Amino acid sequence: MNKKPEDQILVIFGASGDLTYRKLIPAIFDLYVQKSLPSNFVILGVARSNFSDETFREKMKEGIKQFSYFKDAKEEDLTGFLKMLDYLSINTDKSEDYAELKNKLEEIDKNKNTKGNYTFYLSTPPNLYPLVPKFLAQQGLNKEDGKSRKLVVEKPFGSDLKSAIELNNILLEDYDENQIYRMDHYLGKETVQNILVTRFANGIYEPLWNRNYIHHIEITAAESIGVENRGGYYDHSGALRDMVQNHLLQLVALVAMEPPMVLESDAIRNEKLKVFQALRPLAKDDLFKNVIRGQYLASNVKGAYMKGYREEKGVDPNSRTETYAAIKLFIDNWRWQGVPFYVRTGKRLPTRVSEIVIHFKPAPHNLFGDKEKLNDGNVLVLRIHPDEGILLKTDMKVPGSGYMVKKSNMDFHYSSWQDTYVPSAYERLLLDVMLGDSTLYSRGDAIEQTWKFVQPVLDFWQANPDAPLYGYPSGSWGPEHADNLIEGENMTWRYPCKNLSDDGIYCEL
Ligand code: BG6
Repeated sequence: MNKKPEDQILVIFGASGDLTYRKLIPAIFDLYVQKSLPSNFVILGVARSNFSDETFREKMKEGIKQFSYFKDAKEEDLTGFLKMLDYLSINTDKSEDYAELKNKLEEIDKNKNTKGNYTFYLSTPPNLYPLVPKFLAQQGLNKEDGKSRKLVVEKPFGSDLKSAIELNNILLEDYDENQIYRMDHYLGKETVQNILVTRFANGIYEPLWNRNYIHHIEITAAESIGVENRGGYYDHSGALRDMVQNHLLQLVALVAMEPPMVLESDAIRNEKLKVFQALRPLAKDDLFKNVIRGQYLASNVKGAYMKGYREEKGVDPNSRTETYAAIKLFIDNWRWQGVPFYVRTGKRLPTRVSEIVIHFKPAPHNLFGDKEKLNDGNVLVLRIHPDEGILLKTDMKVPGSGYMVKKSNMDFHYSSWQDTYVPSAYERLLLDVMLGDSTLYSRGDAIEQTWKFVQPVLDFWQANPDAPLYGYPSGSWGPEHADNLIEGENMTWRYPCKNLSDDGIYCEL
């Protein structure tokens, strides 16, 4: 049986917010159904909204019914789970209110035997990230003294290098690094963790995993949704801060890192840090040539009108915030010298797909194919979403006379393991923090290093608001300038695909 976390209280700040409703509580319920929660366990929701325990439980019940994997669980499971939920309304930005929180925690400890172990989850607006931990510390709630006191900080961790350093410093005044869990939910995805297994459990890949055999690497995180109801936040963020600095650079690190000596948190995180440190700084010229930004425009997709970004609620009608970013980057180390990494992400693209594509160099002497065609080597696709799995494209002979060669797929789909339950990213990460395992959380030094990499781009866009920002129709694959980034070198992104819809922009996969 899997290890169970120790008895504890999980305190969620920002308990009336969307993340708690859509992700956190449904994930904890899924853990409950699988009997993975501690024996003595309470979830204390904390926010300013004036809910009673009952209203909070009712609201969370709706969230579970909509978003939990086990949404059809027995009613008694639901009732049993909801009993573990309590709520406390305080002004989270007022230090004096934290005495009340401390009393409440002590009362729960007494009644439910949760033993003074607390995990504090900050799911609040980021301006509270420096404040809440400080106010907790003023009440002594950071002190471990044989108990466990952990802090989970949601993204965004800072909005640039300076603010990320400041936030790290503030947290480290009262907490040890090993008490701080910086969330990047991409790391909780099963298929993202499978990158390490693919690379380091299979003898056949690792010898090829370097500049001698790999031509280039493509990483795409495309979303079909727009900014939805997050316009206010997103307009101050943009794709570079929202996706590239964190999720996409984490993928780069997992693909590019050296094998860790052991499967331990710091061994893995040290290797990832080295990749971030080896990212070649973007020079002035790169900012024009190798970084492309775009913003989605209104369009009609399959007869339905889709708003442009500037029409979205909470967005400045003259906004120059990017909803699409593509970067060509290099890693200056022995393994990756000269191998370009093409990384892109965007909203309102034709479909939701996240994948890493490893393009191997072609066979050295081409006996069979079109000699003019460059870059026609094997391709390995690590599919993170949808249809999680791995695909290897190899050349095969077409039966018949002569030597006609055709690319053929060796394809693994997780869905073919019918009895295997795939936990959600939040489920995995919440369980890990309760168990005290920080492997899948970001370390402070790594976060600073990733901000250091994107900072020149942020500075450049800030200093040159007129720098190109390309419009792309909603439902298209983003600005064609991003295609040029890769096509200029006789290559293509794996998408856009061949099956364009009648209106010419929608890609049927
Ligand atoms: C979040 C971003 O971190 O990741 C969102 O803030 C984005 O803008 C989301 O939509 C994507 O995550 P996933 O798991 O849906 O691919």
